[in-house]
Amino acid sequence: MGYEDEHVPVLLKEVLFWLHPKAGGRYVDCTLGTGKTALEILRRSDSPTYLLGIDRDPKALEMSRRTLAEYNAVVHLKHGNFSCLKKMAVSEGLTKVDGILFDLGVSSPQLTTLERGFSFSGDGPLDMRMDQTQGQTAAEFLRSISESELERVLREYGEERYARRIARAIVQSRRTQAIQTTGQLASIIQKSVPPSYRYGRLHCATRTFQAIRIVLNQELEVLPTAIQDAIDLLTPGGRICVISFHSLEDRIVKQTFRALAAQPDPVLSILTKKPLTPTPHEKQVNPRSRSAKLRVAERREEVPA
Ligand SMILES: C[S@@+](CC[C@H](N)C(=O)[O-])C[C@H]1O[C@@H](n2cnc3c(N)ncnc32)[C@H](O)[C@@H]1O
Repeated sequence: MGYEDEHVPVLLKEVLFWLHPKAGGRYVDCTLGTGKTALEILRRSDSPTYLLGIDRDPKALEMSRRTLAEYNAVVHLKHGNFSCLKKMAVSEGLTKVDGILFDLGVSSPQLTTLERGFSFSGDGPLDMRMDQTQGQTAAEFLRSISESELERVLREYGEERYARRIARAIVQSRRTQAIQTTGQLASIIQKSVPPSYRYGRLHCATRTFQAIRIVLNQELEVLPTAIQDAIDLLTPGGRICVISFHSLEDRIVKQTFRALAAQPDPVLSILTKKPLTPTPHEKQVNPRSRSAKLRVAERREEVPA
């Protein structure tokens, strides 16, 4: 089984329903991952269309290239951050598109490959970069950050209630030994929190790992502008689908959509008043989908001046 086989796209039926791929349509998948969602978009649009696929992880692009091989002629893959969506679209000669998807966060292959350093359920180098060609690793980040700043990061991006204790334990521990692996970090966290939390339903390292990952990859900062740029690229009637996996992301998506829909001459109609969530069956067969939320909006017709 290849790594890509592990990934089961989340809310796929719902994305296909709302994106409603059509023959000859042009689509952008800003978060290609394994390419499986993009493949379904292409299959549903029944005659060749155009798909621009973006991922900041070069390994995801390799996987997607394999997944989408049969659509080689109409698929254009780009390595980069979707914060540069407009620039990438322009360089492909794309001025307007019919649908754009953001399926945020990390893919299963990223999570389960221990060498990527995203997971605490095994031991690997403490990396956590989605794009391993640039930026600081989590080990480097933890080497230099101050205790108070680390506490803020854990509280803000992990909503971690034991932020102070964990930050202190990390800073104390690095005085004697550099924190280089995911196993080391998980063990420091485990020792620093009360037993009720250590053996709780959610692994006690979940929120710390999430916070470090979000900060390191600047996951939240790029989102409002990327959504705005995506909407600028949509043709009237074109749709944007955004799947988020935690409340901080979902809040940004909700607020960005609402702000654009509330303008005097709104460019956007929100199609999902409440976010769509996976069915109990999907949550059961794909536990990774548990926290997913899908929001959809549509570009409105231009009102003549
Ligand atoms: C949840 S996975 C997408 C899964 C995909 N829908 C599939 O079918 O496999 C998210 C992907 O988005 C990528 N990603 C996250 N943030 C990104 C960003 N700012 N720019 C480009 N790619 C990003 C990650 O590297 C990861 O491969």
